Amino acid sequence: MNLKTLGVILCGVAIMQSCTSKNSDSTQASDSLKVNKIEKVAFGKLPDGTVADLYTLHNANGMEVKITNYGGTITSLTAPNKNGKYENVTLACDSLSGYLKGVPYFGALVGRYGNRIAKGKFTLDGKEYSLAQNNGVNALHGGKKGFDKVLWTATPIDGEEPQLKLNYTSADGEEGYPGKLEVEVVYTLQKDNSLKIDYKATTDKATVVNLTNHTYFNLTGDANKEILDHELTLQADKFVPVNETLIPTGELKAVAGTPFDFTTTHKIGERINDTKDIQIKYGKGYDHCWVFTDSGNQLKNVASVYEATSGRLMEVLTTEPAIQFYTGNFLDGSVIGKGGIPAKFRTGFCLETEHYPDSPNQPKFPTTVLKPGETYQTTTVYKFSSK
Ligand code: GLA
Repeated sequence: MNLKTLGVILCGVAIMQSCTSKNSDSTQASDSLKVNKIEKVAFGKLPDGTVADLYTLHNANGMEVKITNYGGTITSLTAPNKNGKYENVTLACDSLSGYLKGVPYFGALVGRYGNRIAKGKFTLDGKEYSLAQNNGVNALHGGKKGFDKVLWTATPIDGEEPQLKLNYTSADGEEGYPGKLEVEVVYTLQKDNSLKIDYKATTDKATVVNLTNHTYFNLTGDANKEILDHELTLQADKFVPVNETLIPTGELKAVAGTPFDFTTTHKIGERINDTKDIQIKYGKGYDHCWVFTDSGNQLKNVASVYEATSGRLMEVLTTEPAIQFYTGNFLDGSVIGKGGIPAKFRTGFCLETEHYPDSPNQPKFPTTVLKPGETYQTTTVYKFSSK
């Protein structure tokens, strides 16, 4: 009798219980092969002594995303080059103290209102609200202490497609905005090497909401390099022209025949210094909101960026109507990023999916008002491959 047969005989009625539990253990073992465990480590302490954590999500291909619950910030995201090498393709800091010194929204969740609101004022249901003027005379990215600077409650969800759920309650009146806003953001690292971000919010009073993520990408994997040779396509036939303080004029302008036309692929750097175009001058390069040709709120392919030396391709899908494309024109080397590398001029670009800037003051723009009983819900996917 061989050992296997003996095992079967021993598994009689009397010991069924233990055999059954053995069986379920082995099922668990094979399941756990597919379950990617999320690692959690302490990332550092905030000035009040609270600890911020760092979570690492990975998928079976070897892609890895690190997220801290401080600001819901992506501190690393790896993507494969044409030789299958995974490298971080974002601008980020090594430690929490780097972020606390002040960074221009590296990897962060931005809210309650991403982008600018003119002069930090808007009127809703006949009442005027005042926000911090933290960008010249305008309000930018949720105020002095926006969602990028708060501690979110994190819930890791292990799985083949691991998730990090982040929750934050923004009090009524916080940063001047009306209504208690319950926000939930779920990051999912998917099997196809994409990072999905699902945003949800509800309120107890009418308010304005425009949530986004402010990751700076550099697909070379080398934060020393400029992003000017990256090749960009944007499925957007219009953009939002702005004044010298980057507040919309209220019109939408066709991109055709301007340096803003990325409906066919162009290198980012090709027309970025065409300062005879007043919009390029105002933006100091690209720092504008493009409006998608397809205005539907289904998940749609809206942008792709290819970097030839690494072969990396990033595709962006979103349910949002627009995207702020910003080319790191304010980066000047004063912020120190990972590995001690200063974040220099145009070494990262952002593709912030969102509603148009200053919508609360622009009656012709799609509304960003959220009312009690409604759910704000958007999804954006950044997908990585190489060719
Ligand atoms: C945004 C703005 C830019 C700049 C960066 C942060 O995307 O549009 O003008 O303020 O954030 O530096």
